[in-house]
Amino acid sequence: MGKPDYGKFFASRINYMYPSPVREAVAKIAYKSKIKPIISFAAGEPDPEVLPRDIYANLAAEIFRKVPKIVNYAPAEGVLDLREEIAKFMKEYEGVETSYEKVIVTVGGSQALDIVARVLLEPGDIVITENPSYVNTLLCWRHYGVQLTGVEMDEKGMRTDKLEEKIKELKNKGRLVKLIYTIPTGQNPSGITMNLERRKHLLEIASKYDILVVEDTAYNHLVYEEVPVKPLRSMDKEGRVIYAGSFSKVLGTGLRVGWLEAPEEVIEKVRYSKQPMDMCAPVPSQYIVLEVLRRKMFGDIKMRAIEAYKHKRDLMLKALDTHLPELKHTRPVAGMFILLWLPEKIESYAFADVLLEKYDVAVIPAARFFLGEEGRNVIRLNFSMAKPNLIDEGVKRIAKLVGELAEQV
Ligand SMILES: Cc1ncc(COP(=O)(O)O)c(C=O)c1O
Repeated sequence: MGKPDYGKFFASRINYMYPSPVREAVAKIAYKSKIKPIISFAAGEPDPEVLPRDIYANLAAEIFRKVPKIVNYAPAEGVLDLREEIAKFMKEYEGVETSYEKVIVTVGGSQALDIVARVLLEPGDIVITENPSYVNTLLCWRHYGVQLTGVEMDEKGMRTDKLEEKIKELKNKGRLVKLIYTIPTGQNPSGITMNLERRKHLLEIASKYDILVVEDTAYNHLVYEEVPVKPLRSMDKEGRVIYAGSFSKVLGTGLRVGWLEAPEEVIEKVRYSKQPMDMCAPVPSQYIVLEVLRRKMFGDIKMRAIEAYKHKRDLMLKALDTHLPELKHTRPVAGMFILLWLPEKIESYAFADVLLEKYDVAVIPAARFFLGEEGRNVIRLNFSMAKPNLIDEGVKRIAKLVGELAEQV
């Protein structure tokens, strides 16, 4: 019959599959940086120079010798001792009372978010997110055919007054909202942290309209100022909040260790969903994280990261204020990102391409983080990975290109 016509074999689900702007950019930068040095403000990762690789090397050497089942399957829900340590971690660092039965170890927070959708969402369901929101969750949840609706943010986080308006509006049309997805601390891509009042209001709204909340806490441990906030989950009295955790941003993205903490009724289904998916999260990584927690090393690793990234954040904010004083940008107190609004007429994808080609600076066009067209002139800048001595230079080059394009349009 010859070469198959693959198009006719694809599932209709592929219509919801788009490339991640972050992953695409990272691939382009990896290729480019083989040819010449690039100043990258692109990927949202911890700085390899800050991560304690020596500690991991020593732990790994010990674990591989001592744990007979280190390269065998673990239970799908995770190594039991790690689940217990995570439950303790949530108490110590998040003020959340929980137990290991409500914790499942996942392949990063990414898998936790995917499984939430598998277990709870079906085509047509309405999910409300911050606008903009984390692009991979948007891309992933679209695979399930859900209807994503955005609520605008200001510097205090999601506008919960608008959230309630939206829920009412939908209700009047006979449509019920199933889930609210929020990244309340150091949000990706905006860097914004939701204040306590809004957090409380969001929970009140979820209760009033009988909606579940998914709280993505990927950046909860990278907080650079004294901010009186606590996780939504710690204030949840009804069991409405599903907590997606990740060790990626403090301990390292390549470990691929995250978790989901949820009421046991939900966790049971999550377990059934995860078992055939991957058998278990990578076992050596689970043991490394287990030992980091057990030996009380997380606090020091976190403090070292905070010190480094706070400094880089300050350098980037200063550079933006110096070289691009007329442009709007966010001022994060947590996380790894700053959003920058380019002049209206500059399209962010084209801008990022030219910036990389001509000025050897990498940024992420933020359009796909937005739910509508409002992000077409916005770029996301990461400060955690950048070399401190190159931050000012990188921003200066961004300003140069903005100046050139502003003259043309
Ligand atoms: C908001 C948010 N949630 C979840 C993740 C997932 O990270 P991981 O799968 O490495 O835990 C990321 C990574 O960038 C993120 O920014």
